Amino acid sequence: MKNTFYITTPIYYVNDKPHIGHAYTTILADVLSRYHRNSGQETFFLTGLDEHGQKVQQAAEKRGVNAQQHCDEMAPRFSELWKQLHISNDDFIRTTEERHKKVVQNILQEVMDKGDIYEAEYEGLYSISEERFITEKESESGEFRDIKKLKEKNYFFKMSKYQQALINHIEKNPNFIQPNHRKNEILGFLRQPLNDLCISRPKSRLNWGIELPFDSNYVTYVWFDALINYITAAGFGSDDNAFKKWWPASYHLIGKDILTTHAVYWPTMLMSAGIELPETIFAHGWWLMGESKMSKSLGNVINPMDLIEDYGVDPVRYYLMREMVLGQDSSFTMESFIQRYNSDLANDFGNLLSRVSTLMKKNYDGKIPEPGKLTNAETIIKSKGESLAKLVKEKIESMRLNEAIEEIMQYVRSVNKYMEDHAPWKLVKEDKISASRVLYTAGEALRISAVLLSPVMPNRTEVLLNALNAKNTGLEWGGLTPGHELKDHEPLFPRVK
Ligand code: ME8
Ligand code: MG
Repeated sequence: MKNTFYITTPIYYVNDKPHIGHAYTTILADVLSRYHRNSGQETFFLTGLDEHGQKVQQAAEKRGVNAQQHCDEMAPRFSELWKQLHISNDDFIRTTEERHKKVVQNILQEVMDKGDIYEAEYEGLYSISEERFITEKESESGEFRDIKKLKEKNYFFKMSKYQQALINHIEKNPNFIQPNHRKNEILGFLRQPLNDLCISRPKSRLNWGIELPFDSNYVTYVWFDALINYITAAGFGSDDNAFKKWWPASYHLIGKDILTTHAVYWPTMLMSAGIELPETIFAHGWWLMGESKMSKSLGNVINPMDLIEDYGVDPVRYYLMREMVLGQDSSFTMESFIQRYNSDLANDFGNLLSRVSTLMKKNYDGKIPEPGKLTNAETIIKSKGESLAKLVKEKIESMRLNEAIEEIMQYVRSVNKYMEDHAPWKLVKEDKISASRVLYTAGEALRISAVLLSPVMPNRTEVLLNALNAKNTGLEWGGLTPGHELKDHEPLFPRVK
């Protein structure tokens, strides 16, 4: 195990603007990056754009602009959204960049020199929507659109040569493909004979791509190009020290729609080029609208910008992370969004801050009061807070983010209950010392919850920690300093209807 953490999202097609599905994977990668950074691990977080290929060329044609211009106009839609969503990526790769073209051509030449690329005439069914040749059986499945018969001379990558080596690798490395049901899906797929991969497109048919270094009549297949982004950005061929430091990637996060390309094409390409395989390919499920996948081509997408404008960034991040069980599909509904917002964020979390800070301001000169001597009730809250950090770590590191968040929220609810049981708003009138102990304990538990939630809600937790004058405090009990001045703050999560 390396002591650095390198995580990637898919690079998204620029054929249309981003939707909640893209935001989801990117936020997930961001939460994991922030979590690893906060735990002191050197972290590299990559996202970017897939700018070549037929889909993009067609989108550009439809808008009546040239392909590069189209990409240049679409790219800010993604980078702007990531900024809005407080995505902390370290690099933003675009496959039309020179640094990337160079690496793709080097890898193509390397694989060619190895004898793993051959030329052949191929006749078969070609799906324009998928941009690849499909089998007879696939064409009958109804999943592919725009199918036509094509007969063409093309270049093929000897993927079949690495079939057994790939099976061995998957079996020896149980974490290589996650979750397990996805690994089994790939192993099942690999029990069938594996075809070689057509990696060229004649320029007469498609010219928006990276030219083959050994035949200028062709560009390379968009997936052969796109997958390589993960090593380009890590410094392959340009910065050996960086590449040694970051590669192999800790996680390629993807949606299940692109599992085969990542778990079969990519590792066999790397094997041929003599490069180590990534540690884990993790495929999450889909956000559905009702029964069907949210997708650009179906036109049933939720625009994240609208949600951000209406409810703020952190509630969007919170909902997506809290609601999806990693590996399964999840339904996006406005009802459940609003429900989560009001119950978890406004009632449980936000309300605890406003209660605690209002009472401290009113009764203790606007300062953090003394913790006093803990009784049994406080000892329980304190020790739960301490074990919570460990529990959250375990859950996050095993990719059960929804459970990690739920553990924290349960803790917050137990602190609200503690407040109700001890009613410091009454207690303060007869016993100011005891009320001080209660308020300190509740505030401190809230502070720890905020630190634990900060990778998910970096913005609101910062406001909260600021309000308690506890910026940059850690997970140790006692981070609130008695006598520190409380700061004014806007309501964390105003209730919505
Ligand atoms: O496939 N639910 O790009 P793409 C959850 N360029 N996640 C979703 C989603 C949904 N409904 N819709 C999209 C490509 N995603 C290639 C990738 S990588 C070398 C090349 C997310 O724009 C999810 O991560 O179609 C999915 O895998 C990705 O967006 C597909 O984005
Ligand atoms: Mg797609």
